[in-house]
Amino acid sequence: MLTKEDNELLCRVGPGTPMGEMLREYWHPVLLGSELPTPDCNPIRVRLLGEDLIAFRDSNGQVGMLANHCPHRGASLFFGRNEECGIRCVYHGWKFDVTGRCVDMPNEPAESNFKTKIKATAYPCVDRGGVVWCYMGAPANPPALPDIPFFLVPESHQFFTKRLQESNFAQAIEGGIDTTHASFLHTRLSVDLAMKREKDSKTNRTWGDDEQTNKGLAIAMKSKSARFELRDTAYGIMIASRREASAAETYWRINQFLFPYYTMPPSHAVVDKDSPKRSGGGHAFVPMDDEHTISWSFTANFQRPFTAEERERMSEYPNPGLHAGVPKGLLPATSAPMGAFRPTHNQTNDYGLDYDLQRTTQFCGIPDRSTQDNAVQESMGAIYDRTKEHLGVADTGVIHMRRRLLDAAKSLRDGGLVPPGVDAPKSYFVGGCGFILPNTESWIPTADALCGFTAGVDVVLADA
Ligand code: FES
Ligand SMILES: [Fe+2]
Repeated sequence: MLTKEDNELLCRVGPGTPMGEMLREYWHPVLLGSELPTPDCNPIRVRLLGEDLIAFRDSNGQVGMLANHCPHRGASLFFGRNEECGIRCVYHGWKFDVTGRCVDMPNEPAESNFKTKIKATAYPCVDRGGVVWCYMGAPANPPALPDIPFFLVPESHQFFTKRLQESNFAQAIEGGIDTTHASFLHTRLSVDLAMKREKDSKTNRTWGDDEQTNKGLAIAMKSKSARFELRDTAYGIMIASRREASAAETYWRINQFLFPYYTMPPSHAVVDKDSPKRSGGGHAFVPMDDEHTISWSFTANFQRPFTAEERERMSEYPNPGLHAGVPKGLLPATSAPMGAFRPTHNQTNDYGLDYDLQRTTQFCGIPDRSTQDNAVQESMGAIYDRTKEHLGVADTGVIHMRRRLLDAAKSLRDGGLVPPGVDAPKSYFVGGCGFILPNTESWIPTADALCGFTAGVDVVLADA
């Protein structure tokens, strides 16, 4: 459990809060590039770390992220005219470029220099790997972007989706690194049904071959409890869970937590050096505010483009979405922040829960994997009261992740210490994995060798 004070510290992300200030040290993946498809396209509303913002792509293709309220008298820049390298407020015509500089103030006398004194709040943005990233920290010194493998391959090798999660980001991370929940929430009532699901699901389709996947899955289904070992790294934590594979062997699954909110769960595939991974996946849980999260899912193939058929299969629903990467199964788009990414199955309809499905096929009876996560995590309340929980051995990774986040926020607040990973962007070039070792062997060298996404594979990286 956490004290009330630490729970508040963990979950509050607005300006001036310790966690909010820590998060502002990092770049954030915020938009699919396709949400701002062309120069001078329509602006869109963004909510990030408790701030209301307007994103626009200017005539040069550069993305700007300005505070919602115009610095003049506060009209929303969402209504603005995106024209000639800036966004012009429709109330009195003041115009701002992507840096927030006021470049025109047509309702003031021509001789006035008032516009030189006005600056809108503006956060730097860059396009990388099919995603728009935003940095909300001290403007003088943005760090390099993290070398997360999914963002370094060409867009043809990526499959990214996002959805609105109506809970605090820490709850979402906890779900992302909580290995044992997959043996319950996401599984079926028998090994055979589970293996069929693995074949049909997006998660492992391109990850390992069927034989590898079945091997790992069979062990995980047989041994639903696990013991944990942790290793702190430059980017965060390697969370190793171990299960008995046979009398003489252990099945290890390595789940990654990367500061400040990325997770890279292992697939069920058992990997060895002769059959390395050629694709992989992960998540980011980017806080919109204390009670809402952008829940990203990333999948990448490191050797070749995904085929149209693979893209179709990886979609949790048949695929004609509003933007590339938006699965069907979403409510009609609105102009609210993340308004185009609201799941059809949500708390107002019990997430599509079907008790007959629960009796016959699935452990939980909620149709798809992401919705299952949303259902349980949102049902905890938007900000769970962690003074009331009871944590066991299976929560070892969760406990340590919270401790690292809290320590990082306090160390920045009290000593100005740069949080983990900010200065180590290259350390993010890793992934999750699973493997079997003799009981006598340490997991660490093998994890180090195989969690490098590229182990034994000629990876295709995008140009610069
Ligand atoms: S409120 Fe924006 S120009 Fe007046
Ligand atoms: Fe899950």
